[in-house]
Amino acid sequence: VPEAVAAIIPAAGMGSRLSAAAPPGPPKALRLLAGRTILQRSVDVLADEVDLIVVAAPADRLERLHFHRPGVRIVVVGGGATRQESVRNALGALSESVTHVLVHDAARALVPGAVVRRVLAALRDGARCVVPVVAVPDSVRGVTADGGTAPLDRAAIRLVQTPQGFTVDALRRGHAAARTELATDDATLVEATGETVTLVDGDPLAFKITHPLDLLLAEAVLGR
Ligand code: C5P
Repeated sequence: VPEAVAAIIPAAGMGSRLSAAAPPGPPKALRLLAGRTILQRSVDVLADEVDLIVVAAPADRLERLHFHRPGVRIVVVGGGATRQESVRNALGALSESVTHVLVHDAARALVPGAVVRRVLAALRDGARCVVPVVAVPDSVRGVTADGGTAPLDRAAIRLVQTPQGFTVDALRRGHAAARTELATDDATLVEATGETVTLVDGDPLAFKITHPLDLLLAEAVLGR
């Protein structure tokens, strides 16, 4: 079976912001959320939409991580010191037949399937770099290192979510051209190589579980 569409799930973060106010637990993606780990929930959403999933997991947890879903091959590789390195490691495990790839933060465990399908639809329409976004509810200010501040027009700003979608060659070239390890998403690297970014509607439920309040919110949503 040719694996045309793959998903990479960076899941190797320690969750330092999540644990700051609580006893340190397992790495963030391996924390339980209403009976299933954060990572398992992200895998389950993507498994319905792609042919191959490559998880970049904490290196010391590899032997204990196994995923089984009919119709999708799931591979686990070791993550890196940064999100960018984790995605790069996973890129090395893609099959030759993969043409398109999604990159999805494990921490966005409640992403609706509809967001994944909007990204895939844009790729099918010929886009090479697709980003789901949502509007900003708050007023926004820019700040500078010297203490200056200025209001920004929130109508001109979007929050960036995942999964982001790419042709495999665009994603590989973006990572190969990166000069730092500081990228917080993949579209930034791909756009820097001259690709055009296509925006699609994200969803508030695709929020990234980062702080303790996010975990409470996710539990409340699941218990609703
Ligand atoms: O740190 P942040 O919340 O931006 O991480 C986004 C995603 O990248 C998370 O799913 C996290 O597990 C993953 N990550 C990773 N390797 C790292 C750091 C973060 O796979 N070294």
